[in-house]
Amino acid sequence: MTQIRIDRTPTPKSRPGPEAPLPFGKIFTDHMFLMNFDEDRGWHDPRVVPYAPFSLDPATCVLHYAQAIFDGMKAFRGEDDVVRLFRTDAHAARINRSCAQLCIPQLDEGLLQDSFHALVSTDLDWVPGRHGTALYLRPTVIATEAFLGVRPAKSYLYFVIASPVGAYYPEGLAPVKILATDTHVRAVRGGLGAAKTAGNYANSIFATEEAHKAGFTQVLWLDGVEHKYLEEVGTMNIMLRIDDEIITPPLAGTILAGITRDSVLTLMRDWGLRVSERQISITEVMQAAEDDRLKEMWGTGTAAVISPVGELGFHDRRVKINGGNTGDITQRLYDAVTALHYGRANDPHHWMHPVRTELARAA
Ligand code: COI
Repeated sequence: MTQIRIDRTPTPKSRPGPEAPLPFGKIFTDHMFLMNFDEDRGWHDPRVVPYAPFSLDPATCVLHYAQAIFDGMKAFRGEDDVVRLFRTDAHAARINRSCAQLCIPQLDEGLLQDSFHALVSTDLDWVPGRHGTALYLRPTVIATEAFLGVRPAKSYLYFVIASPVGAYYPEGLAPVKILATDTHVRAVRGGLGAAKTAGNYANSIFATEEAHKAGFTQVLWLDGVEHKYLEEVGTMNIMLRIDDEIITPPLAGTILAGITRDSVLTLMRDWGLRVSERQISITEVMQAAEDDRLKEMWGTGTAAVISPVGELGFHDRRVKINGGNTGDITQRLYDAVTALHYGRANDPHHWMHPVRTELARAA
């Protein structure tokens, strides 16, 4: 096992109190994880160090061409005070899939998982304990070579930062309003839609601002060819129920393979529900809403967890879903997923990984 060096800060920051609001991604812990890549040494020098700004040459290629990927994962403090990480193996595998699409050298998936454990165990006291809160980890890889040509860089930095968070949306757990757009697209076949890469999010900002101006929380993206089939919502995968069929767009290279998406599909199949991963057009959804057959809709994501959708807009139409309230399956999923997160439920799929505190103690 590669040894991870741990360099603790001599000046820890004050932590938010147990009742303090935890707006998403604004407060950061005392430490971060770093590891470098160069052509001679490959990935080397994994270490936990005090959280601090980076200094980058203005010619660093990630600043120009966005050769960067990231992921998002959470550690939860259970009611038994055990801190558990959710599906670290799936996150490590997704990091490597994103890296492959951006021509970034692959990382050792065991070491990636160790990096999550090492950082969380070093900053264990930062994992909040209130229901609905978590320590959000942001593993990221950036190209660090100072070079203005367009080609894969020869050096990279992998880093992980951590942030105690509450609900992602300002609505908290209340249903959000989403606006389907057929004038902007997120991704096209053969593009980078399945990678968790900075450019996808940069591309989402304009349409999301338009949606905000129209009173919606997020954009519901449609496919990039016909501008007709549902893809995903700004920061989550989308699911809906028409009568007793639960439908979610398939993984066809244009949407993110969400780990919460995969988890809730597994749970619903365990429960014997009728689940289809299939294309569904916005016309079919709006028609189902008109016929009162669109029973519920929700998003899934690491940051958003399970987020009910109470209103859907498309062109000049707006429909309320389930009277704007959280639906039964949405609530059942939220309860089941959060029971796993906080160590209150059996974990037959082995998704929860108690934090390995020996990684921080070893140093
Ligand atoms: C996550 O759910 O982890 C995400 O990466 C969404 C984020 C862009 C806020």
